Amino acid sequence: MTQVAIFSTKSYDREFLDIANVSNAHDLTYFEPRLSLDTVRLITGQTAVCVFVNDELDAETLSALKQVGIELIALRCAGFNNVDLKAAALLEIAVAHVPTYSPHAVAEHTVAMMLTLIRKTHRAYNRVREGNMSLEGLLGFNLKGKFIGIVGTGNIGRTVAEILHGFGCKLLAFDRYPDPDNMPVPVDFVPLKDLFAASDIITFHCPLTPETHHLINHAAIEAMKPGVVLINTSRGAVVDSAALISGLKSDKIGALGLDVYEEEADFFFEDISNRGIQDDVFARLITFPNVLITGHQGFFTREAMIAIAETTIANINAFEACGKPVHPVTLKQHIGA
Ligand code: NAI
Repeated sequence: MTQVAIFSTKSYDREFLDIANVSNAHDLTYFEPRLSLDTVRLITGQTAVCVFVNDELDAETLSALKQVGIELIALRCAGFNNVDLKAAALLEIAVAHVPTYSPHAVAEHTVAMMLTLIRKTHRAYNRVREGNMSLEGLLGFNLKGKFIGIVGTGNIGRTVAEILHGFGCKLLAFDRYPDPDNMPVPVDFVPLKDLFAASDIITFHCPLTPETHHLINHAAIEAMKPGVVLINTSRGAVVDSAALISGLKSDKIGALGLDVYEEEADFFFEDISNRGIQDDVFARLITFPNVLITGHQGFFTREAMIAIAETTIANINAFEACGKPVHPVTLKQHIGA
């Protein structure tokens, strides 16, 4: 039985992890705070930590984890940009993640954001509730026949392609390691600059790495079609938020959908409605009528939560049995090799 300290716990994490931890195979201790250098002290005798997207696993925190006896970090998410993998390797702490839980959860949310923005249903919803049935300002456009650029054609990008193929879209893609034979539908792999120049809608499904940090900046937006619709459900720092604001102000960006935000760790997954938003960039973004932001909920479906919990427990089982999780994260993955 492994003693596991679970950080950033919400009611739904506990619900699904308790179900997956059949016959109480492991001793799970739930903590609400995020894991950081400050909260390492909550660990009392556990040998594994289970963490989520905004827990902080920098070199200093990892070293403190080592000192209290942590041998395994089990991420209950796919992305691992919040873990210093080099430091983890040096300290010989194993890192595991959940590479594929339900690409459909994120892909369907991505397409939901696209449809909402291009048909302006977020605005129609509020108008109709106030008795305003005017269509002024609600003119949309069809998805059929539009060029959609998909950046990152892994599990989620591929699923987005499959869904959009059904809408009759023309699909363009860019991937650092393209694998055209593995695409479920016809997709044209093109250089990134060509994808920017030709796409009516661009959606991001690449991991956050040093290479993709602020991939979407002023220059990239400049290279796009006027009125381009951008959707980011990958990681916040793939886009430069200040550049987005400039693009929205100049109407270069026609609409923007974000499920992730660079500084989200400070307030996502929390109810701050009584405090107000302290982040001025975020506050500016939500003033635009053509911006739709959701609080990192792409993964949040029943099916995905079941799969995440089951894979997390499987990682812990395997580590306990043979010292290696089912889905290890390696340094090689981080540098994109
Ligand atoms: P994946 O690993 O299956 O696919 C990522 C793809 O990006 C790979 O094909 C890879 O070759 C490509 N890639 C790597 N570096 C690139 C670069 N510099 N430029 C273009 N492509 C590059 O990952 P998956 O499952 O499709 O997830 C993608 C991302 O979505 C994750 O890294 C995570 O950050 C994010 N995510 C967001 C969720 C949400 O709730 N909003 C939930 C799950 C994942």
